[in-house]
Amino acid sequence: MIQIAVLGYGTVGSGVVEVINKNQKEVSKKAGVGIAVKYILDLRDFPGDPMEKCVVHDYDVILNDPEVKIICETMGGVEPAYTFSKKALLAGKSVCTSNKELVANHGPELISIAKANNCNYLFEASVGGGIPIIRPLNSSLTPERIDGITGILNGTTNYMLTKMDEDGVDYAQVLAEAQQKGYAERNPEADVEGYDACRKIAILSSLVYGKTVRYEDIYTEGITKISKEDFLYAKAMKRSIKLLAMSKDMDGSCFAMVAPFMIRSDNPLYCVKDVFNAVCVHGNMLGTTMYYGRGAGKLPTASAVVSDIIDCAKHQGKFIFCFWDQEKVTLSSKEEMCWKFFVRVKGDKDSCGLMKAFGETEMINIPECQDEFAFITDEISEKEFEERIKEVSGVITRIRMND
Ligand code: HSE
Repeated sequence: MIQIAVLGYGTVGSGVVEVINKNQKEVSKKAGVGIAVKYILDLRDFPGDPMEKCVVHDYDVILNDPEVKIICETMGGVEPAYTFSKKALLAGKSVCTSNKELVANHGPELISIAKANNCNYLFEASVGGGIPIIRPLNSSLTPERIDGITGILNGTTNYMLTKMDEDGVDYAQVLAEAQQKGYAERNPEADVEGYDACRKIAILSSLVYGKTVRYEDIYTEGITKISKEDFLYAKAMKRSIKLLAMSKDMDGSCFAMVAPFMIRSDNPLYCVKDVFNAVCVHGNMLGTTMYYGRGAGKLPTASAVVSDIIDCAKHQGKFIFCFWDQEKVTLSSKEEMCWKFFVRVKGDKDSCGLMKAFGETEMINIPECQDEFAFITDEISEKEFEERIKEVSGVITRIRMND
């Protein structure tokens, strides 16, 4: 029997306990040994909870108990999760986490401490919730030179964009609805500004390059400026708008970005709706593989954490190789990246300077938006677009297109 401790008895932590208890037979069979929760660390007490007796408030009780071999960190945030995880690894206890903030900030350091102490720091649940994506990158896809990852990595914003698309509602209304349903936080910044997706693509990119992609270096744009009118245009073009997190390796020049894109209906990510996430990974031998499922939520995320617990149990005293060094990757600037741009302009197309700036372009008009027009540029670099768009007056918005 392996004893484990769960740090943080919130949504994911209580989910981990539920998965272990409900699927006890499967978990112990696949781990090759029984797994039992000995401690739950939380500031609160949980009177009446079946796990009430396992709750402790002092982390040292867990750290100093030699019976505890695996620690499951589901606290979120950098501190005290970082200090607790580091202490556990230094003591030779493996750590499994769902904490993308901590992994994006300190992942390579914690992995190297795990390696030095013959234990593991695993983080399957930190990206894509219940979707297996870290393990495929670390094992199944190892023969590949991966040159591109494009994903929908945030469930909250995908839910919001789906609602705007399907129900024709505006951003403020859909945000209120998402908050009411408990998808969006009271302070929704991390999701709607793209910060959450940015940390997740930083983690995936780091695993692809084997070095550290700093999330601070990733150009990130959220969905706060997307309106219901943008979706009317998208629909007229048989497209939708998705918040994409992408990472590209262009012959050694690495690039990563998070931004809303208009995507075509034949793009596999077009069908990813509501809180679902999906990640497309392109390898030079295999081509594209796609990973799809529930990117958030109690049991899907907990299931991914428990998959790591099982891996740790199977590899006691043995480090599972993970390619992620502390050396930093220098990302290319977005200025050289090329795409088509969709642009909405208020007023008249003959007097706004469009012809002079962009020449002949594809025009889009929809009956719902009478006092404006829209156009699509040829594929041009971000730098060129920014220079030319300055010459056009009355620009309402611009959205990149992923063709
Ligand atoms: N806020 C995140 C999301 C939770 O909406 O995807 C999972 O990381």
